[in-house]
Amino acid sequence: MLKKFPKASDGNTFDETLFGLIADDLEKQGYSIRHGALPDDISSSLYSYQQDLNAAKYADAGIGRGEDFLKTEFVRTDEIFWIVEESDAGKKWIDWTSKLQRFLNQRLFLGLFSFESHFAHYAPGAYYKRHRDAFRGEANRVLSVVTYLNPAWGHSDGGELVLYSDDQDREGLKVVPLYGTLVFFLSEEFPHEVLPATRDRYSIAGWFRVNNSINNNIDPPR
Ligand code: OGA
Ligand code: MN
Repeated sequence: MLKKFPKASDGNTFDETLFGLIADDLEKQGYSIRHGALPDDISSSLYSYQQDLNAAKYADAGIGRGEDFLKTEFVRTDEIFWIVEESDAGKKWIDWTSKLQRFLNQRLFLGLFSFESHFAHYAPGAYYKRHRDAFRGEANRVLSVVTYLNPAWGHSDGGELVLYSDDQDREGLKVVPLYGTLVFFLSEEFPHEVLPATRDRYSIAGWFRVNNSINNNIDPPR
């Protein structure tokens, strides 16, 4: 008989089953929302790492980067902390996202070249107004990913991510920022926003990028 379901102990097969579902969603609708999908050893490492981070380590979030950097409370009021491989949790997360990157490149020919991601803390009342993730003059963010580190989050806690299908869409699709939920969407296609919450809200936002060569220099990952 054919073996239909992968064994949970077989890490790679297990990942690839999820990666296949994400690829199918992206192909069909340009986004994927998967509840309880981030492997628990990664969620729990990221969760404890996030807990350990001193609030003082967070830089106030701004829009754009480099000379484009501008901080504006009008657009977003969260705080961010970039994730690098030096930490154990960061390494686990980045290993997993690179596996996914390879899988999506093979399956969907996306040509994803690098990945960057940060923790974000939204204090009660903090928000991120409707925006797109592909930056001005830098259309190299192709695929956005968001995951959440908030156990036991309920509807009354607010803080939903609202994903809009286009500029005309006023209703959107609300995603509760619950621990383990993974959201993917094409960065240039979907306007989205973060509604204010009544509790501290922790998320990770990341972007898979294609390579943009400027003056023959390879555009490096951050
Ligand atoms: C972002 C973002 C969504 C979220 O950081 O660009 O849209 O739910 N985050 O935290
Ligand atoms: Mn965004």
